[in-house]
Amino acid sequence: MTTIFSGVKPTGHLTLGNYLGAVRRWAEEDQHRADALFCVVDLHALTMQHDPARVRRLSRQAATLLLAAGLDPEQCTVFVQSHVDEHARLSYLLECTATDGEMRRMIQYKEKSAQAKEAGDSVRLSLLTYPALMAADILAYGTDEVPVGEDQTQHVELARDLAVRFNQRYGHTFVVPKATAPTVAARVMDLQDPTSKMGKSHAEGAGIIYLLDEPDAVRKKVMRAVTDSGRDVVYDRAASPGVANLLEVLGSCTGQPPGKLAEGYDSYGALKKDTAEAVVELLHPLQERHAALVADPGYLTTVLRGGAARAREMARPTVDAAYRAIGLLEP
Ligand code: TYM
Repeated sequence: MTTIFSGVKPTGHLTLGNYLGAVRRWAEEDQHRADALFCVVDLHALTMQHDPARVRRLSRQAATLLLAAGLDPEQCTVFVQSHVDEHARLSYLLECTATDGEMRRMIQYKEKSAQAKEAGDSVRLSLLTYPALMAADILAYGTDEVPVGEDQTQHVELARDLAVRFNQRYGHTFVVPKATAPTVAARVMDLQDPTSKMGKSHAEGAGIIYLLDEPDAVRKKVMRAVTDSGRDVVYDRAASPGVANLLEVLGSCTGQPPGKLAEGYDSYGALKKDTAEAVVELLHPLQERHAALVADPGYLTTVLRGGAARAREMARPTVDAAYRAIGLLEP
């Protein structure tokens, strides 16, 4: 059976980008067709300046939203990364497999470290080594497929390279995984700056739709989205990034190709109105389920405990095998 692993980092409130790029597919397709694990990757939330209480709060919120989005603990394994020691255990071996040059080439490291330096801050070493931990998340489970948005494909490529290298050096240990991105909305852009990704860790902005935004907040954000100076509704990411982004969001919500949708509009206003309503409609059931789950916090705790126990059981043999293969003595 195919094994699927993916995760979400509790560094902010989950956004429409997270949902359309990743989480919706996990719920609608992946959990039904594979042995699937979905993880709140809390260790990854420590790579930048963080507030411990906020990470704890966001970790529970992210897990609640995964269930609200439709992940069913009977169908898949939902858990928190730090509850399963195997991730950190394997990460070290992968740091011993990767080179520092490889890590420094990662786009997210380059961007975030440049921003930090500009602000006069130093960066944590873990920001550099983060992709080794992400590779460990994936490789520990013998993962075949990693459903992610476009921004994560470079990290998954690195996980592939490390798996191949480790296997060549020490004998076959890891399955070589591949990233799968959605055809539409693989990179949802910020509504106020359609040349940059809609990201949950950005400062609270008018261009980010959060999954728990009230309908009126969603409408306001979409109606104020930056469009382009032209007037024609065309699907052209390079020439009209703002309009293309709205068409992708609408296309993803309604299951229609963005290029085809463009033909049906002759004004930006009508496109925005339909996009806003489609997003409101898409989020409504998720928000209702979220409210019900929040009312029963014990349920989430039980789900996460069960998920961690199952994940531990799955990861342990592979991580133990990697420890033996690399030359560490059996205890
Ligand atoms: P994170 O938490 O930034 O994002 C979670 C998932 O949402 C996708 N995503 C988007 N997709 C489309 N448009 C956007 N604007 C957008 N923003 C986010 C991401 O691609 C991702 O699939 N490093 C990862 C978490 C991680 C992980 C893993 C993922 C850690 N270990 C192992 C897969 C497998 C991250 O920061 O995702």
